[in-house]
Amino acid sequence: MNQITLTDSDRQFFYDNGYLVVSCAPLIQDQFLINQLKSQFEKCFRGQFSTGIYPDEWHWRAGISNPGVVREICNAWKSDNVIRSVVLSPEIGSLGGQLYPHWTRVRVAQDDVIWKVPQSTVKGHIGYHVDSAYISRQFEAPETELKTKAIKELSERYNGHDFSTGSDSITVWIALDDADEENGVLEYVERSHLLFGMRNTTKSFGVLSESDEFAEAHKKIKDMLNFHTDAENPDEEKERFVAALNEVINKNKNSLSMDSLMSIVKPQVPAGFCLIHHQNMLHGSGANISMDRHRRALAVHLIDGDVKFVGAPTYIYGRYKLQGSVELRDEFFPVTWTRKE
Ligand SMILES: [Fe+2]
Repeated sequence: MNQITLTDSDRQFFYDNGYLVVSCAPLIQDQFLINQLKSQFEKCFRGQFSTGIYPDEWHWRAGISNPGVVREICNAWKSDNVIRSVVLSPEIGSLGGQLYPHWTRVRVAQDDVIWKVPQSTVKGHIGYHVDSAYISRQFEAPETELKTKAIKELSERYNGHDFSTGSDSITVWIALDDADEENGVLEYVERSHLLFGMRNTTKSFGVLSESDEFAEAHKKIKDMLNFHTDAENPDEEKERFVAALNEVINKNKNSLSMDSLMSIVKPQVPAGFCLIHHQNMLHGSGANISMDRHRRALAVHLIDGDVKFVGAPTYIYGRYKLQGSVELRDEFFPVTWTRKE
């Protein structure tokens, strides 16, 4: 694993645009490790879990599932030690600490093993969604003097961005095959993180729901958000979604701090390199339409290591909340990086 040092301009780009293509160096430079991960992916989807522990979610099974469907396993780090060595690495954890100085330590909330085989069908798409809908709203960060001070300093330094909400988690997405539009790279709706405040809500749009007009316009588009999309033509659905979003922005530009409309970005990511995105960033991906190129990726969702459970977390995470306590157990949400100073 490579220790990546983010620059000031990397941070500025991330805060402004909601994502970052880390192009200075690969996060995983060792081709042997990349190949090992691919081999363990294959074993996991066959149900061969080297630690003997089942993952939290297992969405594709060899010999049973439709071959073209996106293969996904969540929290494979519990099930396989090679995957664990990467997911729990301090090199990944440090990326959270570098982006958010108000995090004194970093925990892994969840990993995501994702595999799209060549010539995947319409089921090879992942619909637009924001990760905070699944992750951040399970937790809340305590307000401490230290955090408040760090957030204020960060806001003063970076164009007055508001870090007081929406800064509890990030996602690091590592390509294990060269990824681009053809094989269904992760795609972003640029700067959408500025609009999609999801704190303590399910699919409501916190920032935009300040007026009835916003609420109504959002009702129109919010049902389009779905990780497991059933759309017949998902690409068209995504374009419709962004057009509807731009309509809302256009109508309300006087009350929004947005100076331009949204567009879709599909970066090229060589194997071993990573993308990082904001918890409120709209993202998804297209099918793998290449004839022979696989598209495997490992995503790691990091959270502020000091967060506590909300009172009533939902099913997946709620299984790890102990009765009468809001503390996160290290065994389930390991701390992978701690600030030194
Ligand atoms: Fe996601």
